[in-house]
Amino acid sequence: MTEQAHDEDMDGVNPRLVELIGSHIQQAGGSIPFAHYMELVLYHPEFGYYTHSRKRIGKEGDFITSVSIGPCFGKLLARHLASPLCRIAGSCEDLVLVEPGAEEGHLAIDVMRELEQVLPDSVYNRLSYVAIEPFARKKTRLLDTFKTEDAGRFRVVSGWHELKGSSGVLMANEFLDAMPIERLRLRGGEWFRICVAGGNHQLPRFHEVEVPIRDPELAGLARALPDGLEDGFTIELNTGLEEWFNDLVDHFSMLHCCLIDYGLCEGEVFSPSRKAGTLRGYSRHRVEECPFAAPGITDLTAHVDFDRVRESAETAGFEILDLTDQHRFLVNAARSWLLEIERSGSVDEGERQLLNQFQTLSHPTMMGGVFKVLEMSRGVPGP
Ligand SMILES: C[S@@+](CC[C@H](N)C(=O)[O-])C[C@H]1O[C@@H](n2cnc3c(N)ncnc32)[C@H](O)[C@@H]1O
Repeated sequence: MTEQAHDEDMDGVNPRLVELIGSHIQQAGGSIPFAHYMELVLYHPEFGYYTHSRKRIGKEGDFITSVSIGPCFGKLLARHLASPLCRIAGSCEDLVLVEPGAEEGHLAIDVMRELEQVLPDSVYNRLSYVAIEPFARKKTRLLDTFKTEDAGRFRVVSGWHELKGSSGVLMANEFLDAMPIERLRLRGGEWFRICVAGGNHQLPRFHEVEVPIRDPELAGLARALPDGLEDGFTIELNTGLEEWFNDLVDHFSMLHCCLIDYGLCEGEVFSPSRKAGTLRGYSRHRVEECPFAAPGITDLTAHVDFDRVRESAETAGFEILDLTDQHRFLVNAARSWLLEIERSGSVDEGERQLLNQFQTLSHPTMMGGVFKVLEMSRGVPGP
């Protein structure tokens, strides 16, 4: 077992969260897997980064997302999703647009407003939006946001079980990158599990320890990693993906999924430039390299390994339809809108703002290149 201590500034960190993580570490015999630490600092119902009421996204928060750029992202996503929604509507009565990780609910509103414009009434009238939000406080806030809309059309549920037998489309922007991840590191030809220790009187600060892998499932995943990586190579593994996709398969009759996130594909996670892994913290628009610097105050995230996402989805029974970058996806989705603007021959202030947002979202050297869009379906009739 090797130890690497960090000397971070813990100003502003809730001591009750530190104490709680410390007690989990003590109960586990001295260390907990990194995924367990990440689950506590991000999702503890009282003290977690994603469960308190502070603003996280946008200029006044810690980071921006495509949704916080403005309504253009939702408008174009809606235009793209209209087609699978119409196909599914041909084979079922009621349709849902499902979203995990809705956060403030802005994407929901942007997408539904546009769908009302572009879907035939016969389809839109059968559509409802459902946010999956497990935390009661966030659920209340979302319902409050949806009050300004056609409220009966917007629902917030705490889990998939409330949607058993539904059919429709799932959209998720920057959801997968926020799922807790395991971290593994290669030492002398063997993979070790990165765990978290500390949080006690002798060593109050958290620090990482490298522990032999005892969990059989994780050991199997480690064995499948490629040979020839440099000593010290660190990777992140989202071991919750299989269960997540299996849940979708169990609860939906027909489902088209559109997953948007920053991430890597075609073995990019194993490139030498990624030797240290992709785990990062974000606070007030600054990158924080140390995941222990400010537990509960800093967002923790890792690039999505789209190769693993694809594999887990296929194993669960999904057919992969497309994996592209946000640039190509948005340019394609914007075609009909841009033609409408061209035909009208003029651009008002509202449209000018949308066009500016379109440029930021789709530019290949900015968000358009970093973000990827993975689409898959199960049980949905073809075009
Ligand atoms: C980075 S934020 C994305 C926010 C939003 N989609 C956007 O694009 O602006 C990640 C969100 O995923 C949520 N989340 C993480 N795990 C979740 C789960 N198992 N079920 C539902 N939401 C979850 C977090 O609470 C947070 O709201």
